[in-house]
Amino acid sequence: MSDSNDKKIRIGILTSGGDCPGLNATIRGLVKATYNKLNCEYVGIQEGFKGLIEGNATEMSRRDFDGILHKGGTMLHSVRTPFKKMQVIEEDGVDKVKAIVDNYEKLELDCLVCLGGAGTHKNANLLREQGLNIIALPKTIDNDLWGTDVTFGYQTAVDTGSEIIDRLHTTAESHNRVLVVEMMGNKVGWLSLNIGIAGGADVIVIPEIPYDEEDLVDAINLRHIVKGKKFSIVVVAEGAKSIEEARMEKEDFKKYKKSDEYIPPAQKISQIIQEKTGFETRVVIPGHILRGGSPSAYDRTLATGIGAYAADLIEKKKFGVTVSVKNSEYVATPLEDVAHKRKVVTKDHPMVRTAEAIGISFGNKNYKNL
Ligand code: F6P
Repeated sequence: MSDSNDKKIRIGILTSGGDCPGLNATIRGLVKATYNKLNCEYVGIQEGFKGLIEGNATEMSRRDFDGILHKGGTMLHSVRTPFKKMQVIEEDGVDKVKAIVDNYEKLELDCLVCLGGAGTHKNANLLREQGLNIIALPKTIDNDLWGTDVTFGYQTAVDTGSEIIDRLHTTAESHNRVLVVEMMGNKVGWLSLNIGIAGGADVIVIPEIPYDEEDLVDAINLRHIVKGKKFSIVVVAEGAKSIEEARMEKEDFKKYKKSDEYIPPAQKISQIIQEKTGFETRVVIPGHILRGGSPSAYDRTLATGIGAYAADLIEKKKFGVTVSVKNSEYVATPLEDVAHKRKVVTKDHPMVRTAEAIGISFGNKNYKNL
């Protein structure tokens, strides 16, 4: 395969879904490692699957990937192409899957490397089913990708989130306030749990442990009245739900979320605390700040390793897989095993046990019995 007389291996690369720090570092790792061992050329696809549908792709040289290790975002730009719409022909009349297959052939790709999270993995698996040679790489600040211990981008977001909490600590203390900080993370609590522990939060509310209003209020009162503390930091995952909300059927909850009645979790928790304890509260929503900026050293190393491992897979022509990290080793996991699953925080996860051991409240005293 590495014989220079061979036809060059054409590698298509795209980044899809929400960006995160480490996408460029992964692309660089992939390009460097493939360039060093294989005879290949690169096609950069702009704006994820949308670019492949539209044929928005550029021939790229090895040198085009220089100087990107430390840069946040993605040099290839990213767009969300929801899986549920992939097979739906919309107003523009475009058959997206057919367009992708046609453009894959037109671009004479030997394989397509898709960097992305859960949604990207579903799309990648769909394209595998169409017979394309696909390798997916695990990106997301949410860390919710099934089958891998960690995704690149997550740890940088944890670092950023902990720094935010450090900054909030000083102002919360000056003003004797309860600061309720909403963290991204989609439907899982990995980011909030990790940031909360690293930042020294007093309460952490995550989707996997629906909160009980009374327990939440008790936790704040215990800290302020019994322990005499004058401020608190409450980290709330954007997907957090109350016990009542968690009991709703999926479809009912979706409707409720769109209704005027719905109050997003951090705001709702802030209101409950202020009304029932009398302590002054404020809501802070860092939002996309968690996704921005340079990857941490940890993520640069992880991303480079994942990219380099993908080069091994291309060399072995092992397609239809994603790169997973298991016990610090890189392994190839079949896409069909990963697509349509979500890695959630379990009640006996070491981070949950750690939080409990040091007295962090989850806003639910009986969470183990849920
Ligand atoms: O999946 C990454 C993520 O940042 C989630 O944590 C968040 O729910 C979502 O993307 C936000 O998406 P968008 O950037 O499209 O608003």
